[in-house]
Amino acid sequence: MTTTPAIVCNQTAEKILQEGQAELTSPAETKTLRDPYGRVHDYIRISITDRCNLRCVYCMPEEGLPFFPTDKVLSGDEIIQMVENFARMGISKIRLTGGEPLLRRDILEIAQGIANVPGITDLSVTTNGLALSRLAKPLWEAGVKRLNISLDTFDAARYKTITRGGKLAKVLKGLEVASTLPFEQIKINTVVIRGQNEDELTAFLRYTFDHPVNVRFIEFMPIGTERKQWESQYYGIEGVFEICRQNGWDYAPIDYAGNGPSENYQIRGARGSFGLIHPVSCQFCEGCNRLRVTADGCLKSCLFWDDEDSIRESIGDFEAFSKKVHQVLAVKPKNHEMALARQEEVKDKKPTWRHMSQIGG
Ligand code: 5AD
Ligand code: SF4
Repeated sequence: MTTTPAIVCNQTAEKILQEGQAELTSPAETKTLRDPYGRVHDYIRISITDRCNLRCVYCMPEEGLPFFPTDKVLSGDEIIQMVENFARMGISKIRLTGGEPLLRRDILEIAQGIANVPGITDLSVTTNGLALSRLAKPLWEAGVKRLNISLDTFDAARYKTITRGGKLAKVLKGLEVASTLPFEQIKINTVVIRGQNEDELTAFLRYTFDHPVNVRFIEFMPIGTERKQWESQYYGIEGVFEICRQNGWDYAPIDYAGNGPSENYQIRGARGSFGLIHPVSCQFCEGCNRLRVTADGCLKSCLFWDDEDSIRESIGDFEAFSKKVHQVLAVKPKNHEMALARQEEVKDKKPTWRHMSQIGG
């Protein structure tokens, strides 16, 4: 049986996007980066390594991937200079991702270099949390303001299975250390996988009662995974509301500052909050404000499609760099088509060849 997810929400990309009506920004230095659909881009996610010390089932194959050789990966200086270029073009928010970004020996120099770039007002990191007990404090001191920590289960055996070998206690320790520091936000990324952790949604919601974190339930996205595996493991996350009702928990939408597409809620009386990221069951492309840079220096305008172009060679030449960025933005797809049935209708585009660990989520 096919498990093609239904599109359950009535938000449509057409609502805000008005094709062809918005003007493209000019290739010269500009303070607003806009795509053909009028979407303003002020946020770059940079994957600073494709390496990881885990092999999460939704992200990497069990046997790992051939990692980029060191000389294929952007150096710290290149990353900082690239961010300087982006800042001149109106980008103010940067997220460092991976693979696992904390595996880079120069992570603190990179973070500090970016935090010092004029115009960058927000620097965040997405991490699996394994190195956080050692690095949370230096990251904070380097200028990182917000952290996203991947955590899909509170059960040690399950954690080991989902991450293919990770130690839950290490992440929890990292989370604890980070929580003692004045980060503006700590979010927990929880990918919900049928048959693995959908029975823990209640535990994660409960966790928000006593912890001032934002738990983000993320739908398993079909990127770099076998279509069949994805179909059997996809789980629509709108069920969290039913769980709240069944437990008699009052919840309400909240404004939660962030750069992303999550819808946020809080259970009455809870210290923390929860968010839903449902790219599959409910497309959120109309609000897309981000570009992605891969560890090997390619600029991707959409997480899902294979459109990308290398910007590495032009990092030292602002005019050429700016031109490249505008070229990529000019052909940014209107939306992704992650739900299977809709994707099959798209004949002229190919999904990316990259695995999630090579894009950074
Ligand atoms: N679907 C959804 N989220 C994913 N992530 C990695 N792979 C997937 C996937 N296939 C998320 C994890 C991690 C972040 C870097 O990307 O939540 O926190
Ligand atoms: Fe590593 Fe993060 Fe991918 Fe897990 S989700 S394998 S921790 S990059």
